[in-house]
Amino acid sequence: MSDLDSLKNRALDQLGACSDESTLRAWNSHFFGKNGEMLAALKKVSELPPESRKEYGQQANIVKEQLSASYETALKNCLEQAMLKSLETEKLDISLPGMIPAAGKLHLATQTLRDIQATFAEMGFQVFRSREIEEDEFNFGLLNMPPHHPARDMWDTFHTTDPGLILRTHTSPGQIHVMRKFHPAPIRVILPGMCYRYEAITTRSEIMFHQVEGLVVGTNVSMTDLIGTITAFTRKMFGDSRQVRIRSSYFPFTEPSIEVDMDCIVCGGKGCPLCKKTGWLEIMGAGMVHPEVMKNGGYDPSKYSGFAFGMGPERIAMLRHAIEDIREFWGNDMRFLSQF
Ligand code: DAH
Repeated sequence: MSDLDSLKNRALDQLGACSDESTLRAWNSHFFGKNGEMLAALKKVSELPPESRKEYGQQANIVKEQLSASYETALKNCLEQAMLKSLETEKLDISLPGMIPAAGKLHLATQTLRDIQATFAEMGFQVFRSREIEEDEFNFGLLNMPPHHPARDMWDTFHTTDPGLILRTHTSPGQIHVMRKFHPAPIRVILPGMCYRYEAITTRSEIMFHQVEGLVVGTNVSMTDLIGTITAFTRKMFGDSRQVRIRSSYFPFTEPSIEVDMDCIVCGGKGCPLCKKTGWLEIMGAGMVHPEVMKNGGYDPSKYSGFAFGMGPERIAMLRHAIEDIREFWGNDMRFLSQF
């Protein structure tokens, strides 16, 4: 009997000293495992004289029950503590604002291009895509600038190793492609796309930039149609009250040629830093398609007439958002790009 008592006390002492789940489980297998002390104590019954067996057996069972109940309680407490601790460290505050997944968006140049396209689409224009690697002949020659024509100097050009193949300096060569492809008139298209110029990069000029060219060919197309179309476009893009001003200019592929200004969107014409105190902002070049260009496109200039215009969407975006440096467009600075 005293063996049982001392077994019980020793077991309880050791149980009390267990500090975590693994020491508790080790205690359990030590006392209650296949070769454990408790089983050994129970087996002892058979070695005792018959008259002591009953009492010993009863007592041994009581000790066994007590120890196993104490173990269960200790294990339960230990697991509960561990759970509370993990809740404490891994707690989840469901009232915190969620994490917004990073989503991409369209580049400002693309957004502006799409706005311009949508505006012209409303006016019945279709989109025509023309090549970026262009023949010298299309970029210049067929646009009324034969080799050595001094006007070629207006476009600093990237040449390729293929003689006669260049990166287009403007979208105007698309005019020839459109006219040759679509017969007979009417033609009413815009030609958006990337252009390239071998220039020093500054706040106002880039070596790559978009243009949107426009071309209308038909019978009795006049300068009035050109001015009306540009005015409608300007008001759709920049607001109903915009005023448009026409200045005489020169491009080899138009005759007459004009440049188009609109009244300054910041000061409304009074004069401010954006318009350099002139009250006007330049938005595009344009003109009536030159008879030579008409012929090169396969149209008889005595029967058909047309107008054309060309603008820079990055410039348009700069005006709309008061952006001062064109280099921001391809600088890939997310702080700039993500604003739009
Ligand atoms: N291609 C000209 C440039 O890059 C812009 C331009 C001017 C286009 C007059 C036109 C036009 O179609 O009629 O500067």
